[in-house]
Amino acid sequence: MTYITSSMISSALCSVMAMAGTSQRFTLDFSYGSTWFPHAIAVFLTFLLHSVMKWLYLRKSMPPGPLGIPWIGNRHELPPVKPWLKFAEWSRQYGPVVSIFLGSTSVIVLGTAQAAWDLLEKRSEFYSSRPRSIICGEILSDGKRGLLRPNDGKWRKWRKILHEGFHYRRAQTYQEIQSLESKVMMRDILQSPENYEKHFQRFAASVITSVTYGQRVDSVDEWIVKENMNESGLSFPVVPPTRITRSNDALIVMSLSIPGKYLVESWPWLLKLPHRLQWFRGPADERRRRDVHFHLYLYDDVKARMKTGSIQDCLASQTISNETQSGMTKLELAYVISSPFGAGIETTTGTLVTFILMKKAQAELDSVIGFDRMPDFGDKERLPYVNAVIKETLRWRPIAALGGVPHAVTADDEYNGM
Ligand code: HEM
Repeated sequence: MTYITSSMISSALCSVMAMAGTSQRFTLDFSYGSTWFPHAIAVFLTFLLHSVMKWLYLRKSMPPGPLGIPWIGNRHELPPVKPWLKFAEWSRQYGPVVSIFLGSTSVIVLGTAQAAWDLLEKRSEFYSSRPRSIICGEILSDGKRGLLRPNDGKWRKWRKILHEGFHYRRAQTYQEIQSLESKVMMRDILQSPENYEKHFQRFAASVITSVTYGQRVDSVDEWIVKENMNESGLSFPVVPPTRITRSNDALIVMSLSIPGKYLVESWPWLLKLPHRLQWFRGPADERRRRDVHFHLYLYDDVKARMKTGSIQDCLASQTISNETQSGMTKLELAYVISSPFGAGIETTTGTLVTFILMKKAQAELDSVIGFDRMPDFGDKERLPYVNAVIKETLRWRPIAALGGVPHAVTADDEYNGM
């Protein structure tokens, strides 16, 4: 009978390896009075001490922030709703760059525009990737939403298509569509001002569907808008209804990627649980099945209209024309084309809802434009107050309160001595 001796307890890992590698020679004595139990406790305490030291070292090497607890980090301090209020509090306490831990994952929170500009913009070559996103990127999107992909070859292909569709000069060619839709929107508001939010939604939806799928939207009750909002009933053959209701694609993505919201993001080993026990994946699984069906339907619809020559030039028709050269699958392309549709409707609507509250802007419009015509893009330079209000609306009530989806660095970096 050989006992495990105390000399073997130098570190938990070494001990476990020693036990595994020499199982022929060592046998454990479980009898009462053996030294096995105290030794096991000693192994455990050594392991604990080692982990705590490692944690403290890591904590010290990161920018300032709340200490947290090993393995848990600061998760318990983050409220599940409006976590940005807590981020703002930490930023006031620790400075413009704060570090926290979600489980063992380090998260940097940038609390000022200057820090965000210095890092995300000026050093974008290695600040433009995305952290692993299990719920949203893997389960909900199956790696097909570029917004949630790491900065790799597939992401660059995704970005190239969207850049061609929305770079600055290209975006200016959409002004005609925007002007037309804003006139329709003003008419709608005059007819039923109490439904102003619905009219904003229709405006945003119609601009986006015109630009991406080459078709206008006359009402938010049309199936294409309802399906995007996940509200559709009978008009479109979708897979069974989802538990995520009244949510736009962009808002789903944003709400599912709020740091700290899902335990599995900090503890990916939860994915090793049997599928049925992974309680966190239900809504995202359902939504993915629905998305795939919806995006492919729209893709095929554009393709069919291209054959009959009944579609105007748009992002989808251009992308489909280059389908074979793109190096992407049909489903991947369908996802790329749907990105603006997912990203632009609720973001624009929410921003317009804030913007409309500005009464002084109306006074400037009345005095510069008068009452006989609508303002247009050509009037922009003569409307400094309106321009300032637009900027202030985006700053004061940002629709993506946390700046959208988190970024990830691809290399270690130093900023202001941190
Ligand atoms: C007020 C309205 C909008 C706001 C506040 C907004 C905000 C954002 C934010 C914060 C991001 C994430 C950026 C990042 O992580 O680097 C984003 C990405 C994106 N938005 Fe918007 N957005 C708006 C309107 C639109 C519209 C109208 C479209 C389409 C026509 C659109 C298309 C996109 C796309 C395709 C992306 C992904 C870009 C990329 O990762 O390269 N957005 N938006």
